[in-house]
Amino acid sequence: MSCTPLVSQGGRGPDRTRGGERSESLGLKKETLAPAKMTEEVSQTDSDNSLQLPGEDASVPPSPAMARNDCSIAPLTPSPSPRVEVRPRMACPFKVVVAIDFGTTSSGYAFSFTQDPEAIHMMKRWEGGDPGVANQKSPTCLLLTPELRFHSFGFSARDSFHDLDPDEAQHWLYFDKFKMKIHSAINLTMETDLEAVNGRQVRAIEVFGHALRFFREHALKEVKEQASSVLESEDVRWVITVPAVWRQPAKQFMREAAYLAGLVSPEHAEQLLIALEPEAASIYCRKLRLHQVIDLSLRPITNGFDPDGSRPFDSSFRQAREQLRRSRHSRTFMVESGTGELWSEMQTGDKYIVADCGGGTVDLTVHQIEQPQGTLKELYKASGGPYGSVGVDLAFEAMLCQIFGEAFIQSFKARRPAAWVDLTIAFESRKRSAAPGRPNALNVSLPFSFMDFYKTQRGHSVEAALRRSNMNIVKWSSQGMLRLTQEAMNELFQPTVSGIVRHIEELIAKPEVRGVRFLFLVGGFAESPMLQRAAQNALGRVCRIIVPQDVGLTILKGAVLFGLDPTVVRVRRCPLSYGVGVLNRFVDGRHPRHKLLVKDGREWCTDVLDRFVAVDQSVALGEVVGRSYTPARAGQRKIIINIYCSAADDVTYISDAGVRKCGTITLDLPEAPAPPPPGAAGGAVAGAGLGAGLGAGAAAAERREIRATMQFGDTEIKVTAVDVMSSRSVRASIDFLSN
Ligand SMILES: Nc1ncnc2c1ncn2[C@@H]1O[C@H](COP(=O)(O)OP(=O)(O)OP(=O)(O)O)[C@@H](O)[C@H]1O
Ligand SMILES: [Mg+2]
Repeated sequence: MSCTPLVSQGGRGPDRTRGGERSESLGLKKETLAPAKMTEEVSQTDSDNSLQLPGEDASVPPSPAMARNDCSIAPLTPSPSPRVEVRPRMACPFKVVVAIDFGTTSSGYAFSFTQDPEAIHMMKRWEGGDPGVANQKSPTCLLLTPELRFHSFGFSARDSFHDLDPDEAQHWLYFDKFKMKIHSAINLTMETDLEAVNGRQVRAIEVFGHALRFFREHALKEVKEQASSVLESEDVRWVITVPAVWRQPAKQFMREAAYLAGLVSPEHAEQLLIALEPEAASIYCRKLRLHQVIDLSLRPITNGFDPDGSRPFDSSFRQAREQLRRSRHSRTFMVESGTGELWSEMQTGDKYIVADCGGGTVDLTVHQIEQPQGTLKELYKASGGPYGSVGVDLAFEAMLCQIFGEAFIQSFKARRPAAWVDLTIAFESRKRSAAPGRPNALNVSLPFSFMDFYKTQRGHSVEAALRRSNMNIVKWSSQGMLRLTQEAMNELFQPTVSGIVRHIEELIAKPEVRGVRFLFLVGGFAESPMLQRAAQNALGRVCRIIVPQDVGLTILKGAVLFGLDPTVVRVRRCPLSYGVGVLNRFVDGRHPRHKLLVKDGREWCTDVLDRFVAVDQSVALGEVVGRSYTPARAGQRKIIINIYCSAADDVTYISDAGVRKCGTITLDLPEAPAPPPPGAAGGAVAGAGLGAGLGAGAAAAERREIRATMQFGDTEIKVTAVDVMSSRSVRASIDFLSN
């Protein structure tokens, strides 16, 4: 249904704009905002009252260690002074929170019962695994049958695909690292395709739906086994993690996939939270105790090697390693009820960075802990880039191409996919063993079928190929292995690692971030001594670099904590400027002539961007932006408003460079209420918009004001609306996937 409500209106009520430019819409007064007034437009509403106030309830939950001594829980060591948050727990309407960390290379889930929120239960260790690689999550691999039915996920998908007869395998659909596609898709929609290894295309939403359905079934089964009472589906709050740098379309895509997988229904959208990966990690880092971290300034970073033998291992490092070893055998982790003792030396206002170094992306967030509430405030918009650990895998592949020829490697991947998987697994374990100063070369076994295939294709041996390539940093072992020297390993890691370090350096130089106290390295890649050393060398003088134990699970644990209390992040920064296009009264000399529109004798300036929020603007949870819209015609049942975004804050028109249409707000209008009796017009006629005037010219009394309220302080942009005259809520939705 078509509709053109182009004029936004400052409304009445608590979020009314003060000041600002006044413009007129066909005889009725309206207000639009001068850009400088935007901060005022974002204002508190009643919903803000749900934020706990300091001092309301300072009760401390009983010691989790005492409460749960009877089961397999890693006990907490006594801590001298954990900080207690002066914040009461919100009554959680769910019985259990299940978080899914959907990673590029590995995924997993964890859960916590709201009755016992200090205990976080990790998913069961799954069958399968790779030699030389300790995995806490499971590989993000999916196998579909030739009929596009789900076959398996994780190790089992990879092993089943591996075991298929090569001719049969060509008909099966195997997917891995598919999250990267969502990250890089420019125009992501529900129709975006993903390509399986055999080249067949499937809608990406189906692929994600299958994977999430798999997690849903496994997680629910495990939760039910551990629950003390019967659980209904509405008792579960789901949390799915996404990179903080993901845009709205990608976040919405994940939500739609969750609907498709049956995690929750769109009617109960609030049952699902989208968590931001580094933010989740930060929530968990708040809880850290000293023995749960490795402080890089206190130990040599050598993966067990001490190249010069001069620095003994620090005892806290030893303790952390021991704790890590023990916790790997336990699947339940205990967390502090307040902030952990690591923070005891923090001053109010101290800043820290969390860098989630994963498989696909490195994702950064800058936070401050607000004391005594223990809430978090984001100080700079999320940033990051594709500097995940797969960059090292790709560098290894490029190195193989250099030695054996790109055409050969491509044909080997296509014709011997199982052997290619073996080779990547062999490299994965060597990659994890790489450390600065390691004296020995690392051996990567070449599968027999690689050597055989090469000989058949090229007529000479792999050894001869290596010799001819003049690749001196890689040697050949007579036992059929490539020997990667330290120099070769440095070369493979260097581009990715320096990309991460450069990005953090640039972030630290921003005025908002300067003076940062800690840098937390989390995510699987943070375990790499190569990355740790590079970070310590480049940034160790600026801040203390901390690696929590079990870095790979930090995001998952934090995502559970976020699900238990989503208000813990109180202030976020907008990643982009958002707004809608409106008409303003034309002002000669101020507005360009080509934007002039004359309608019924009045002069309007078209395409003005009514900016709701500016990039990097601070927005607190519960703060809202309100605008009123009026249907263009009497009897109209839908209002559709285009949303525009820009990475800049100084944009004036929707036609400015860098401004693009990114989504729509849809307001589904219920049947118009009967017009009020004469003399009882109340608020209904206040501030009708130009849309009404351009339409059928409905009488003022019949014009409806639909008040839309948008929230930008959450992990997703949200909209609600109300029909002002009847006070009835209006179905409002926001869509970033249909562009
Ligand atoms: N010691 C190590 N050295 C180098 N890389 C490592 C090491 N340990 C794990 N990794 C890499 O970390 C990645 C897995 O980390 P993680 O599970 O945090 O990523 P992810 O969640 O799958 O990815 P993303 O968060 O980018 O979507 C893998 O690519 C793995 O190769
Ligand atoms: Mg991750």
